[in-house]
This record gives sequence, C-alpha cells and structure tokens, in this order.
Amino acid sequence: MNDNQVTLVEVGLRDGLQNEKTPLSPQQRADWFNALVAAGHRRIEAGSFVSPKWVPQMAGTDEVMALIQRPAGVWAEVLVPNEKGLDAALKTSAEVMAVFTAASESFNQKNINCSIDESLERFRPVIARAKADGRKVRGYVSCVVGCPYEGSIEPAQVARVTRELLALGADEISLGDTIGVARPREIHALLDAIIPETGTERLALHCHDTYGQAIANITAGLERGIRIFDSAVAGLGGCPYAKGATGNVATEDVLYLLQGQGFETGVDLNRVAALGAEICRVLGRENPSRVGKALTA
Ligand code: HMG
Ligand code: MG
Repeated sequence: MNDNQVTLVEVGLRDGLQNEKTPLSPQQRADWFNALVAAGHRRIEAGSFVSPKWVPQMAGTDEVMALIQRPAGVWAEVLVPNEKGLDAALKTSAEVMAVFTAASESFNQKNINCSIDESLERFRPVIARAKADGRKVRGYVSCVVGCPYEGSIEPAQVARVTRELLALGADEISLGDTIGVARPREIHALLDAIIPETGTERLALHCHDTYGQAIANITAGLERGIRIFDSAVAGLGGCPYAKGATGNVATEDVLYLLQGQGFETGVDLNRVAALGAEICRVLGRENPSRVGKALTA
C-alpha cells in the first residue's frame, strides 16, 4: 500500500446508532450503509450482535446484513461480544467480526460485564471460529488514554491487551479513545508503547471528539505511520457505557484533513457530507461536523 493511502472504517451505523434514543429500522440502516458504499467507503460497520437488552438499538443487525448491497472488496463489519453473537454473525456475509474489550477493568465490567482477562478467554474461541470460517477479525481496545471510571490509563496496559488480542489471532487492533479525552502527546506516548512491538500496519485509531482533539490526534497518528482510522458520518456516536462521551470524529472532518494533506481514501467528501446532512435531518439533531455544515450550508 502506498504511504499516502488511508483506509477509513466507517462506524457511524454502529457506534453512532447504538447511542441514539430511537432505534432505526433495519431498512433505514441498510439504506445508509448502501449510501456509504456509493460514497466510496470500503469498510463499513453494519451493526452488532450484542444482547438487545443491553443495546436495543442494534437489534435487527441480521436484517440489516440481509438488506445491504456491496461489490466485492467492500467489507461489512459487525461487533460480536461472545460465541452467541458469533453464531448469529456467522449466519451473515459479514467480512469482518470485531471483538471488543478495554484497557480499563471498570469500563469492561460496565460494557461487557466481565474482567479484561475473562473477555480475552471469551474471545479465544470466537476469534478461532471466525478465522476458521474465513472471516477477518478486528480487536477493539477501549479507553486507551482515559476511562470514565478510572481516569488515566497506562500505555503499558494498552500494549498488554493489544499483544494478547494479536496472539489470539486478531488481524487488526483498533485503539479507542472512547471518551475523547486524548491529546497528541498522549497519543504519541501510547504509540511509543505499542508500535515497537506491533508495527503500524495492524493498528487503527478510533477517536471520539468529546474534547475537540480528534483531528489533532489523527494528525499525530498519521505522523507515526498509522493509516487506518475509524470515523462516523455526521460525527455520530458515543458509548452507552461511557456517559458524556460524544460522537466519533466526523468522517467529513477527517476527509477534509486527509485531502488537504495529500492522502487518498477513495471516499467522496461531498457525498458523505450530503448523507451526513440527511442523517441529521432524520434524527432531528444538530450536525456536529464543521466540515459537513460548511459544505451543506
Ligand atoms: P451478560 O448479561 O453478562 O450475558 O452480558 P449472559 O451471557 O449472562 O446473557 C444474558 C442474556 O443475554 C441471555 O438472555 C443471553 O442469551 C443474552 P436471557 O437468557 O436473559 O434472555 N445474550 C445475547 N443476546 C444476543 N446476542 C448476544 C448475547 N449474549 C448474551 N451476543 C454481554 C454480556 C456481552 C452479552 C452484554 O454485556 C452485551 O451485550 N454488551 C454489549 C455492550 C455494547 O454493545 N457496547 C457498545 C459497543 S463497545 C463500544 O462502543 C466501544 C468501541 O466503539 C470502541 C471505543 O470507542 O473505545 C468499540
Ligand atoms: Mg467508539
């Protein structure tokens, strides 16, 4: 891959909609997925196979999967917390299954009701079975800089969880600043602890924009050679188990940055901005993307 090529993983339909008060129909979610494909995205999260009692908004992800269309080479990605979720996910055509844990014990308890080590044990068969079925596996590590319950998180702790997920067979690790508190210096310190062991190719950065630092943090990641970034159309997002965390960095804002810095993504900014404006209209919310607002004013 050329050094100026960046892959965006569009997480709005999962990280975003999991946080909206009103669940959207599978047809609506699939229509937006298809619009993201038309805009040029090649990796798009379609939903999660989690407990509907925990996250009712993601119920019907199997129906979303049945309704989406994508050409070869475009990946639909889904979250699976355990073997029950995997059983459901394997019945779909999702190319990528994502397991998720955290670098913070307290966050993990609130989010998936188990310790970090228990989660890794739970993922062992999940990852093995997904890989045996020819799927790719992404491992999410949440709270890589700060935790809503524990405060600062040590980079060494993130490095440990990253190492263990890779040892279990994960193809890629997404490092999540779940509550959007990180600043570039902290991102550099985090990457100092991880890149020497892991390299850059299997790492993604997942920035939330709660404190408005996501674009600065992505710039830090680019400087360090990271070329996979998670973002959400219209800055949708948050986490039901991280109170106060606002959305993911807006895809529109990331695309504007990347274009200006000479990076290629294959994603059409104007189409994403138009979709972002439509999503905000349907959800009845203000568009948090400065770029999206400027382009659709
Ligand atoms: P639990 O209650 O400990 O699980 O929840 P359990 O095994 O005891 O099962 C309890 C009930 O849930 C049972 O049903 C199971 O069948 C059912 P009942 O007998 O009571 O009727 N169940 C399931 N149903 C559907 N799909 C499943 C499933 N598993 C069990 N997969 C569990 C444990 C992990 C299931 C629960 O905690 C859960 O679903 N958590 C999901 C939390 C979540 O989705 N959080 C948001 C995503 S993470 C995130 O946003 C961060 C990220 O963006 C990165 C970042 O920003 O840092 C990725
Ligand atoms: Mg997130």
